[in-house]
Amino acid sequence: MTKNEIIDELKQRLSKKLYTHSLATGDMAKQLAKVLNSDEEKAYLAGILHDCAKNMPKKELLIYAHNHKIMIDSITLIQPSLLHGVVGANIAKLEFGIDDPEILHAIETHSTGSKEMSLLDKIIYVSDSAEPNRDYEGVDLIRNLAFNGELDKALLEAMNIKLAYVLSKRIMIHLESIEAWNNIVGALFIKKG
Ligand SMILES: [Fe+2]
Ligand SMILES: [Fe+2]
Repeated sequence: MTKNEIIDELKQRLSKKLYTHSLATGDMAKQLAKVLNSDEEKAYLAGILHDCAKNMPKKELLIYAHNHKIMIDSITLIQPSLLHGVVGANIAKLEFGIDDPEILHAIETHSTGSKEMSLLDKIIYVSDSAEPNRDYEGVDLIRNLAFNGELDKALLEAMNIKLAYVLSKRIMIHLESIEAWNNIVGALFIKKG
Protein backbone atom coordinates (compact mmCIF):
# COMPACT_ATOMS: atom_id res chain seq x y z
CA MET A 1 0.00 0.00 0.00
CA THR A 2 1.16 3.53 -0.68
CA LYS A 3 1.16 6.08 2.11
CA ASN A 4 -2.02 7.70 0.76
CA GLU A 5 -3.76 4.32 0.51
CA ILE A 6 -2.82 3.61 4.13
CA ILE A 7 -4.26 6.96 5.20
CA ASP A 8 -7.50 6.33 3.24
CA GLU A 9 -7.83 2.88 4.77
CA LEU A 10 -7.28 4.23 8.28
CA LYS A 11 -9.99 6.81 7.66
CA GLN A 12 -12.41 3.99 6.83
CA ARG A 13 -11.48 1.86 9.83
CA LEU A 14 -11.02 4.32 12.68
CA SER A 15 -13.37 6.63 14.53
CA LYS A 16 -12.94 10.30 13.64
CA LYS A 17 -11.21 10.99 16.96
CA LEU A 18 -8.81 8.08 16.63
CA TYR A 19 -8.07 8.94 12.99
CA THR A 20 -7.21 12.52 14.00
CA HIS A 21 -5.02 11.23 16.84
CA SER A 22 -3.28 8.77 14.51
CA LEU A 23 -2.39 11.38 11.90
CA ALA A 24 -1.25 13.82 14.60
CA THR A 25 0.93 11.10 16.13
CA GLY A 26 2.46 10.45 12.70
CA ASP A 27 3.15 14.16 12.18
CA MET A 28 4.76 14.58 15.58
CA ALA A 29 6.81 11.40 15.16
CA LYS A 30 8.08 12.69 11.82
CA GLN A 31 9.05 16.03 13.36
CA LEU A 32 10.80 14.33 16.27
CA ALA A 33 12.65 11.99 13.92
CA LYS A 34 13.98 15.04 12.11
CA VAL A 35 15.17 16.65 15.36
CA LEU A 36 16.80 13.38 16.41
CA ASN A 37 18.34 12.52 13.01
CA SER A 38 16.20 9.42 12.68
CA ASP A 39 14.24 8.07 9.69
CA GLU A 40 11.28 10.44 9.20
CA GLU A 41 9.35 8.15 6.88
CA LYS A 42 9.50 5.17 9.24
CA ALA A 43 8.47 7.39 12.16
CA TYR A 44 5.50 8.74 10.18
CA LEU A 45 4.29 5.27 9.15
CA ALA A 46 4.65 3.84 12.67
CA GLY A 47 2.88 6.92 14.04
CA ILE A 48 -0.16 6.80 11.76
CA LEU A 49 -0.54 3.02 12.14
CA HIS A 50 0.14 2.62 15.89
CA ASP A 51 -3.56 2.50 16.86
CA CYS A 52 -4.89 0.66 13.79
CA ALA A 53 -6.37 -2.02 16.11
CA LYS A 54 -7.57 0.30 18.87
CA ASN A 55 -11.18 0.45 17.67
CA MET A 56 -11.52 -3.34 17.90
CA PRO A 57 -13.76 -4.50 20.78
CA LYS A 58 -12.03 -6.47 23.55
CA LYS A 59 -13.61 -9.75 22.50
CA GLU A 60 -12.44 -9.27 18.93
CA LEU A 61 -8.89 -8.52 20.12
CA LEU A 62 -8.86 -11.77 22.09
CA ILE A 63 -10.21 -13.76 19.14
CA TYR A 64 -7.70 -12.17 16.75
CA ALA A 65 -4.84 -12.91 19.16
CA HIS A 66 -5.98 -16.49 19.55
CA ASN A 67 -6.31 -17.01 15.78
CA HIS A 68 -2.88 -15.52 15.09
CA LYS A 69 -1.10 -17.38 17.90
CA ILE A 70 -0.32 -14.17 19.79
CA MET A 71 0.52 -14.92 23.41
CA ILE A 72 -2.19 -13.83 25.82
CA ASP A 73 -0.70 -13.54 29.32
CA SER A 74 -2.67 -13.34 32.55
CA ILE A 75 -2.72 -9.54 32.56
CA THR A 76 -3.79 -9.10 28.93
CA LEU A 77 -6.51 -11.69 29.52
CA ILE A 78 -7.96 -9.42 32.21
CA GLN A 79 -7.23 -6.22 30.28
CA PRO A 80 -7.53 -7.21 26.59
CA SER A 81 -7.17 -3.61 25.38
CA LEU A 82 -3.45 -4.06 26.08
CA LEU A 83 -3.48 -6.33 23.02
CA HIS A 84 -4.17 -3.47 20.59
CA GLY A 85 -0.43 -2.88 20.13
CA VAL A 86 0.55 -6.42 19.20
CA VAL A 87 -2.65 -7.02 17.21
CA GLY A 88 -2.06 -3.68 15.47
CA ALA A 89 1.46 -4.75 14.49
CA ASN A 90 0.02 -7.94 12.96
CA ILE A 91 -2.62 -5.98 11.05
CA ALA A 92 0.01 -3.47 9.88
CA LYS A 93 2.01 -6.37 8.46
CA LEU A 94 -0.75 -8.54 7.04
CA GLU A 95 -3.27 -5.92 5.88
CA PHE A 96 -1.22 -2.74 5.35
CA GLY A 97 1.84 -4.47 3.92
CA ILE A 98 4.38 -3.11 6.42
CA ASP A 99 7.43 -5.39 6.53
CA ASP A 100 9.93 -3.23 8.40
CA PRO A 101 10.60 -4.94 11.77
CA GLU A 102 11.46 -1.63 13.46
CA ILE A 103 8.12 -0.10 12.50
CA LEU A 104 6.28 -3.24 13.59
CA HIS A 105 8.09 -3.32 16.95
CA ALA A 106 7.24 0.33 17.62
CA ILE A 107 3.55 -0.37 16.91
CA GLU A 108 3.62 -3.54 19.01
CA THR A 109 5.10 -1.89 22.11
CA HIS A 110 3.60 1.61 21.96
CA SER A 111 1.12 1.21 24.77
CA THR A 112 3.21 -0.68 27.32
CA GLY A 113 6.75 0.29 26.38
CA SER A 114 9.36 -2.47 26.53
CA LYS A 115 12.66 -3.26 28.17
CA GLU A 116 14.88 -2.50 25.19
CA MET A 117 13.32 0.47 23.46
CA SER A 118 14.82 1.60 20.17
CA LEU A 119 14.94 5.25 19.16
CA LEU A 120 11.86 4.67 16.98
CA ASP A 121 10.01 2.94 19.85
CA LYS A 122 10.68 5.97 22.05
CA ILE A 123 9.63 8.45 19.35
CA ILE A 124 6.31 6.64 18.92
CA TYR A 125 5.65 6.31 22.67
CA VAL A 126 6.32 10.01 23.22
CA SER A 127 4.40 11.17 20.12
CA ASP A 128 1.40 9.03 21.10
CA SER A 129 1.49 10.61 24.57
CA ALA A 130 2.09 14.21 23.56
CA GLU A 131 0.70 14.86 20.05
CA PRO A 132 -0.97 18.29 19.83
CA ASN A 133 -4.51 17.01 20.58
CA ARG A 134 -3.38 15.68 23.96
CA ASP A 135 -4.28 18.02 26.78
CA TYR A 136 -3.32 17.20 30.37
CA GLU A 137 -1.11 18.63 33.06
CA GLY A 138 2.51 17.94 32.19
CA VAL A 139 2.08 17.43 28.45
CA ASP A 140 3.96 20.64 27.57
CA LEU A 141 6.98 19.44 29.52
CA ILE A 142 7.01 16.19 27.54
CA ARG A 143 6.82 18.14 24.25
CA ASN A 144 9.52 20.61 25.25
CA LEU A 145 11.92 17.90 26.40
CA ALA A 146 11.36 15.85 23.25
CA PHE A 147 11.81 18.73 20.81
CA ASN A 148 14.94 19.80 22.66
CA GLY A 149 16.45 16.39 21.98
CA GLU A 150 15.94 15.08 25.53
CA LEU A 151 13.93 12.08 24.38
CA ASP A 152 14.73 9.82 27.36
CA LYS A 153 13.58 12.49 29.80
CA ALA A 154 10.42 13.04 27.73
CA LEU A 155 9.82 9.28 27.80
CA LEU A 156 10.28 9.17 31.58
CA GLU A 157 7.71 11.95 32.06
CA ALA A 158 5.25 10.28 29.69
CA MET A 159 5.62 6.93 31.47
CA ASN A 160 5.33 8.59 34.86
CA ILE A 161 1.97 10.13 33.94
CA LYS A 162 0.69 6.90 32.41
CA LEU A 163 1.75 4.78 35.38
CA ALA A 164 0.28 7.27 37.87
CA TYR A 165 -3.02 7.00 35.97
CA VAL A 166 -2.91 3.20 36.04
CA LEU A 167 -2.23 3.23 39.79
CA SER A 168 -5.02 5.74 40.44
CA LYS A 169 -7.50 3.54 38.56
CA ARG A 170 -6.46 0.44 40.55
CA ILE A 171 -5.78 -1.53 37.40
CA MET A 172 -2.90 -3.90 36.68
CA ILE A 173 0.48 -2.77 35.39
CA HIS A 174 1.81 -4.85 32.54
CA LEU A 175 5.23 -6.37 33.27
CA GLU A 176 6.63 -4.79 30.09
CA SER A 177 5.69 -1.37 31.49
CA ILE A 178 7.61 -2.08 34.69
CA GLU A 179 10.63 -3.25 32.68
CA ALA A 180 10.42 -0.15 30.50
CA TRP A 181 10.21 2.11 33.56
CA ASN A 182 13.15 0.44 35.32
CA ASN A 183 15.23 0.62 32.20
CA ILE A 184 14.67 4.29 31.56
CA VAL A 185 15.27 5.17 35.23
CA GLY A 186 18.46 3.10 35.07
CA ALA A 187 19.61 4.85 31.91
CA LEU A 188 18.95 8.32 33.28
CA PHE A 189 19.79 8.16 36.96
CA ILE A 190 21.91 5.19 37.92
CA LYS A 191 25.61 5.89 37.60
CA LYS A 192 27.50 2.95 36.19
CA GLY A 193 30.85 1.66 37.37
FE1 LIG B 1 -2.60 2.88 21.55
FE1 LIG C 1 -2.47 6.24 20.46
